[in-house]
Amino acid sequence: MGRVFVAGSINMDVVATAERHPKIGETVAGREVLYFPGGKGANQAVAAAKLGAPTTLIGRLGTDAFGRELRAFLASQSVDLSFVQDTAAAHSGTAIITLANADNTIVVVPGANGLTRPADVTAPALAKGDIAVSQFEIPQPAITAFFRHARAAGATTILNPAPARTFEARLLGLVDILVLNETELGFLANTALRDSDDPARFVEAARSLQTGDQAICITLGRRGVIALIAGAPLLVPGRSVEAVDTTGAGDCFVGALASQLAQGVSMPDALGYANAAASICVQRMGAAPSMPTAAEVAAILTSRPSEAREP
Ligand code: RIB
Repeated sequence: MGRVFVAGSINMDVVATAERHPKIGETVAGREVLYFPGGKGANQAVAAAKLGAPTTLIGRLGTDAFGRELRAFLASQSVDLSFVQDTAAAHSGTAIITLANADNTIVVVPGANGLTRPADVTAPALAKGDIAVSQFEIPQPAITAFFRHARAAGATTILNPAPARTFEARLLGLVDILVLNETELGFLANTALRDSDDPARFVEAARSLQTGDQAICITLGRRGVIALIAGAPLLVPGRSVEAVDTTGAGDCFVGALASQLAQGVSMPDALGYANAAASICVQRMGAAPSMPTAAEVAAILTSRPSEAREP
């Protein structure tokens, strides 16, 4: 079995729940304040580890109380933290989240995540069969160095370009699998997309981004996933569930996909598995703590197997 290596952010999510989101300039009364371990890198690492892949997280924490709490939580989830450094030069990454009607708004303050360097991410030794995963909450030079290092070792690279921002073509050229939602795809393909659009529009936008035979997976929430694999479109239909908090659902998908690929599962089956895992995540509060176990995903796949088909 391969290992999963995640180079990415580690945040404390400070969540205020309310009946509705405030408009700009407006104040609304909240219900409660909750603290959850989060950060896209940490969430993806927890999902991969809980779903059966030996997983190493590479990143930075501050030397503050949030940092200590995050480290203890991640260790309890069997994530290898040998390459998570403490740095006194910045506070631990913090996300301020408002949650109303299962939807969120997020302001991320990177803190220590912003100090992640190329030397940090090239320290671990990767091997053929490993999966290297990253997102856009650490500096781009570190992501590029990580993927170059992973490629040189024969590992597969997965980029989740979230939150969306422009990036250099040379980074895209180092990516084997791109996983993004419709907003991120629209931003990168320079076209307006909505999750209700016709599948053909997503496929067309994905093709405009593609370099070589790169796989592209577009996560569409309750509509499921549309993917381009070896040039052919594939649809994994969504699973109808009652969502309470969608924070971290995309991260759950990425971590689950990485864990399955590390275990030698085919891409279509890994997509169906990741889709099922994310449907469990949205039914729970919080990001990292809402990642499912392998037994939970197996149970829902047994009761309703995944059906991938042409869109
Ligand atoms: O993807 C969800 C994550 O985005 C949250 O956990 C928050 O920390 C932000 O990074």
